[in-house]
Amino acid sequence: MEFIKALSQRRSVYNLNKQIPVSKDEIIEIVNDAVRYVPDAFNMKSQRVVVVLDNKHTNFWNSVYNELVVKLGDKLPRARIDSFINGYGTILYFYDAAVVTETQRNYPFYADMFHDWMMQSNGMLQFAIWNAFATVSIGANLQHYNPIIDKMVRNMFNLPESWTLVAQMPFGGIALPPTRKPQEDASWRVKLEE
Ligand SMILES: Cc1cc2nc3c(=O)[nH]c(=O)nc-3n(C[C@H](O)[C@H](O)[C@H](O)COP(=O)(O)O)c2cc1C
Repeated sequence: MEFIKALSQRRSVYNLNKQIPVSKDEIIEIVNDAVRYVPDAFNMKSQRVVVVLDNKHTNFWNSVYNELVVKLGDKLPRARIDSFINGYGTILYFYDAAVVTETQRNYPFYADMFHDWMMQSNGMLQFAIWNAFATVSIGANLQHYNPIIDKMVRNMFNLPESWTLVAQMPFGGIALPPTRKPQEDASWRVKLEE
């Protein structure tokens, strides 16, 4: 039940600050442990993460703004980018397409499934880190500016071509908690057979 209680406390937190209640090392440990324990189809270890902190975190979000608004004329408000910069850091989630290709070669009967499975594993990893952060009162939200920013990200962090960006998670201290969500009775979405 403690685990379920922890799940109930994870929210999308958009009002972030840089005052985190744990050390930088603990953040890195949470991320490493999540990467270690989250499962992956055929144990293919396709998931990759970049933890972006300090000036690199600021530069990253300024570059996202540059790619979307300055280059493409997107209407993304500057205040939204600044709300991410206000946080302590950003987790970037990737999968390594080279691992998937190799696994497809080894297990041709399931070849069509590996992309879906790898994305499922990436979602599990996002969820694990998001929840683990919530248990130590670190707020986070989930963003998707890929694929527009893919090339910029690869260049900025000198990543292999095969690393494919899936999501961006700004995180930090909780400056303002989100408004309470109405309690849902989810039982209508669960069919019981006995
Ligand atoms: C797969 C997935 C994609 C999401 N994409 C975005 C996004 O691009 N931007 C955003 O602000 N929130 C995004 N969210 C957050 C959801 O909107 C949010 O989790 C949902 O409204 C429930 O609110 P809660 O996180 O506070 O419980 C995403 C969530 C999931 C699971």
